[in-house]
Amino acid sequence: MKKILVKTGFNKDDIVSFGNMFLLANGRYGYRGTLEEYTKDEMVALNVLGFYDQYKDKWRESINLPNPLFFKTSFNNEEQSVLTNKPLDHKVTLNIFDATFIRETEFDKVYIYSTRFLSSIHKDLLVHKYVVKSKEDGQISIRFNVDLDNYDINGPHYKNKKLDLINDIFIFEGTTNENKRVHTYTKYISNEKIRIDKNTCFIEKTSQKGDEICIFTYSLINQEDKNRVDELNDLVALGYDQLLSIHQESFNKKWDVTRVLISDKEAQFELDYSLYHLLILEDQKSYHSIPARGLSGQTYKGAIFWDTEAFILPFFCLTNPAFARNLLIYRINTLKGAKQKAQSFGYEGAFYAWESQEDGIERCSKYNVTDPITNEPIRTYFDEKQIHISGDIAIAFNRYVYITDDYQILYDGGYEVIYECAKFYMSRATFRNNQYHYDDVIGPDEYHERVNDNAFTNFIAYRTIQLAIQYYQYGELINNRISIEELKAFIDKIYLPKPNKQGIIEQFDGYFSLENKYPHEVKALRRNDKEYLGSLAIKTKTIKQADVVSLLVMLPEYGYSEYAKDNYDYYLPFTEHGSSLSSSMYSILGSHIGEIQYAYELFRKSASIDLGTDQKMYAGGIYIGGTHPASNAGAYISIIFGFVGLTFDKNRFLINPHLPKQIEQLEFKLFFKKKLYKVNVYKNDYKITEVTNND
Ligand code: IFM
Repeated sequence: MKKILVKTGFNKDDIVSFGNMFLLANGRYGYRGTLEEYTKDEMVALNVLGFYDQYKDKWRESINLPNPLFFKTSFNNEEQSVLTNKPLDHKVTLNIFDATFIRETEFDKVYIYSTRFLSSIHKDLLVHKYVVKSKEDGQISIRFNVDLDNYDINGPHYKNKKLDLINDIFIFEGTTNENKRVHTYTKYISNEKIRIDKNTCFIEKTSQKGDEICIFTYSLINQEDKNRVDELNDLVALGYDQLLSIHQESFNKKWDVTRVLISDKEAQFELDYSLYHLLILEDQKSYHSIPARGLSGQTYKGAIFWDTEAFILPFFCLTNPAFARNLLIYRINTLKGAKQKAQSFGYEGAFYAWESQEDGIERCSKYNVTDPITNEPIRTYFDEKQIHISGDIAIAFNRYVYITDDYQILYDGGYEVIYECAKFYMSRATFRNNQYHYDDVIGPDEYHERVNDNAFTNFIAYRTIQLAIQYYQYGELINNRISIEELKAFIDKIYLPKPNKQGIIEQFDGYFSLENKYPHEVKALRRNDKEYLGSLAIKTKTIKQADVVSLLVMLPEYGYSEYAKDNYDYYLPFTEHGSSLSSSMYSILGSHIGEIQYAYELFRKSASIDLGTDQKMYAGGIYIGGTHPASNAGAYISIIFGFVGLTFDKNRFLINPHLPKQIEQLEFKLFFKKKLYKVNVYKNDYKITEVTNND
């Protein structure tokens, strides 16, 4: 079993990709896969979940903390850094089963070896070990400190920052532009004497061949205004090895239920790697949600999109229902922001933010891309028009309740969310020709803005109101509620686009009459490879990502499955897959309609998204790099809802295997209605076993 991701050699061009690829996180913080000698120029970042700040009129984004792991080594005054000195050998390793990062570099005169982890038990703790070994006699000098010169996309975020040294502990205190305070407590311990000058640490040693200098760093992050010095000292007293083994044991345990075993070695690693990127986002004590780029940095402002409900939540519902609940509680807690947003546009109910931070206020900017040639910002309407977000959330509540039988969440605010979303869709509709329409919207395909009757959106609105009716009894405490009769009368009049004679559901009103141009033709029109494709695709049939196909996958209950193949065949050639969310939707549908081998390719594409160095890093001039949790989850759902063919019927779950030739059999566990099952799937058969506590 391959447990590690290893990359050898050093190439400057890979610095940013490796930062994402070798990311460590523990659901609260993320530390990019960078090296000790790197600075903000190499995008070193200790990113914080759910802690946002705005600098002047720049985009409000999640903050990064000062880097306590800056180390620079010199030998006989010559810097031993991959940035300035070509290493003889260099290797970075990520162990995905215990969430540890290792760096091994051999220079002419020294070896540098380091390991680090963000504890999965002591969630505020970052631990690091840095070892320098002399290859010959000479003068070694190591300079290290808490690097206050942060990497930021839209910073600086600290209007005041100070670093004090009190009893061997470096205490950083930062006050953000929004007047929030954050602290880190950092202690360095070494087998050699540490000299400290102006908050910078030095070890200088006349060393002999074979001598080793070892420095341990323990850094405790503190978001509450309380002194945690004693706590840090207690953790330090446990020592590196013990902290490491506690962390490893706890992270390792997460795999018990999560792992999907497939008889396909190469794909197995990609899948494990994808699940790693989801497991590092789990924090049972957090009621924040998962940002679109996880904890890999400030891309997309560290905000939460529909990615969580439509892609990531199914994974956690089946493997960790308690955490799935937390993710939904986040939407309950941010309902107020969603109601404010609806009100600000003159609607009722809850219109959730397209880009949501801790308070649910809309953070999506009006100009999300720029023209790379003129540098002019381009207006996009994602914030105002992507109204499907509210229904994506309502539907996620239903999925969770169905899988877990946790009806309590509906009393705890879940029903109110569904109801308020339904109310929003009722007030957002336009009555025309005796039917309710949704005009001026954007569906999942963001290249076609401001269209009427996007099929996905209309069905999502319909389903949301249906859920408000289905769970009506859970909303008794809501004042002046719309009557169930009124909800029913409304839903009957929602316009639901029907397939045409060829079985195709028109993506939106007028889509069929757009220019028949395919993605490669539209791309050829670009004047610059960073040019925003949406500006060119809008007049054509080229779409960014699965749209009607997402509808067929996410809402199969509307009986259009007989048209699945027609729609898949029709839309596939027009789909650019310009969003990492696209492949999994096609993969799932592809499995059901017999396109299994292509479904397999798309599964691999989702699973390996963060393993490459050639990801899409820019959208219209704006940096959008980072990890892709929705695509990682996309790999999982491609297997479970695609190859395994998991569906639900009344109080059961059903399996209908469509295995590709590369996967002869697979095994996974899932929680369903408070019980844990092991499922073995073979080409034409399967076996379901209930797992008891002893298993
Ligand atoms: O939510 C997605 C959207 O569907 C496509 N653009 C990127 C967003 C964040 O992943």
